[in-house]
Amino acid sequence: MSELNLILLGPPGAGKGTQADRLREDFGLAHISTGDMLRAQVEQGSELGRQAKSYMDAGELVPDEVIVGMITVRVAESDAGDGFLLDGFPRNESQADALGKALGGLERRLTAALLIEVPDEDLVRRLAGRRVCVKSPTHIYHVDFDPPKHEDVCDQDGARLIQRDDDREETIRRRLQVYHSQTEPLIAYYDRIGLLRRFDGRRSADEVHAHIRATVATLRLEEKL
Ligand code: AP5
Ligand code: MG
Repeated sequence: MSELNLILLGPPGAGKGTQADRLREDFGLAHISTGDMLRAQVEQGSELGRQAKSYMDAGELVPDEVIVGMITVRVAESDAGDGFLLDGFPRNESQADALGKALGGLERRLTAALLIEVPDEDLVRRLAGRRVCVKSPTHIYHVDFDPPKHEDVCDQDGARLIQRDDDREETIRRRLQVYHSQTEPLIAYYDRIGLLRRFDGRRSADEVHAHIRATVATLRLEEKL
């Protein structure tokens, strides 16, 4: 088996989306972001999106049953057959258990959980200054750390850049609390089963990318042996 089935773990603003976009290109993996999937549902005005929005705007987790169903279907789709990069899922132990079961049912397993570590004080600044492309949410900028060439315009497709609704200071604080209480236990969870790899997310996005890419390349070689 040589597929790479990866999880990106880390607090809000750690750079999961930023790194996922690069790793997706490096390794030809499907990038599966539950946050982006939910925001697309909100945009479409679907019933699921309507329900999810109130949780997202409050910085709370959307209920597991909605998310788990969505992911179970998504990892079984053909573009994820050679491997995937999960961004924003799992976010608590019950989601992690559900993922393990779903993969087991497909006779697949996780390759690694990649943890990007950044202290809270840096995260608030990253999130408050983030801008995302209205057309493609994988195009991510920062007003100070990664500004677009022209203010509020995406370098890649010329679309408008916007702020996410949950990037308001009080929502950011709540998202961080929720991360520490509900998602952080997954670090020990994946460490226990030998899948955890840690990365220092305080470095520049390019440096973090170089480290993760080197680790993932090694994992792929090991998978092929
Ligand atoms: P989600 O969309 O997953 O948001 P999140 O986990 O809060 O993470 P972010 O997307 O905010 O941060 P990121 O790590 O991707 O950072 P980014 O690369 O953008 O979830 C949103 C909501 O949806 C949740 O609150 C919840 O309600 C719901 N939800 C989603 N999944 C769920 C689930 N599984 N269960 C239940 N509910 C769920 O980078 C941030 C900024 O920093 C950018 O401006 C970027 O340019 C900059 N940056 C990146 N790297 C660096 C660097 N190295 N140095 C300096 N700046 C950097
Ligand atoms: Mg993200």
